[in-house]
Amino acid sequence: MTEHELLEMAKTARKSAYAPYSGFKVGAALLDQQGRVWTGCNIECATYGATNCAERTAFFKAVSDGVRDFAAIAVVGGRGDEPDAVCTPCGICRQVMAEFCEPDFRIICGEDAELQYTLEELLPKSFSPKNLA
Ligand code: THU
Repeated sequence: MTEHELLEMAKTARKSAYAPYSGFKVGAALLDQQGRVWTGCNIECATYGATNCAERTAFFKAVSDGVRDFAAIAVVGGRGDEPDAVCTPCGICRQVMAEFCEPDFRIICGEDAELQYTLEELLPKSFSPKNLA
């Protein structure tokens, strides 16, 4: 699975985004350590606060099916038919990543995978399960 293939899967997942309030549609494709891909889109709610980001949708689909080991996630977003905005994960999604991923977990953003980060770069000195061990 290449970065560009993962990005394409995120773009396809984005087509299911339910974002009637912000109009900002996001898609994510989460690669697990067995090579399977879990996709997700953002799902908004009239109460706004109950909104779920695309990244967490992908994580929760995987974890609820028993998968807890992950390698990378690709994220695309924007208002148009095609993703046209840089979409780096929000703070809550970064915290969920810290729950299940090692610091070298890769986060791939941008229309052409031109922005790549590790979880350690996006959430340094995080509080994680290791703190409770
Ligand atoms: N959103 C995501 O799904 N992922 C991100 O990384 C940033 C923001 C969603 C939440 C909301 O539905 C919309 O984008 C605007 O914030």
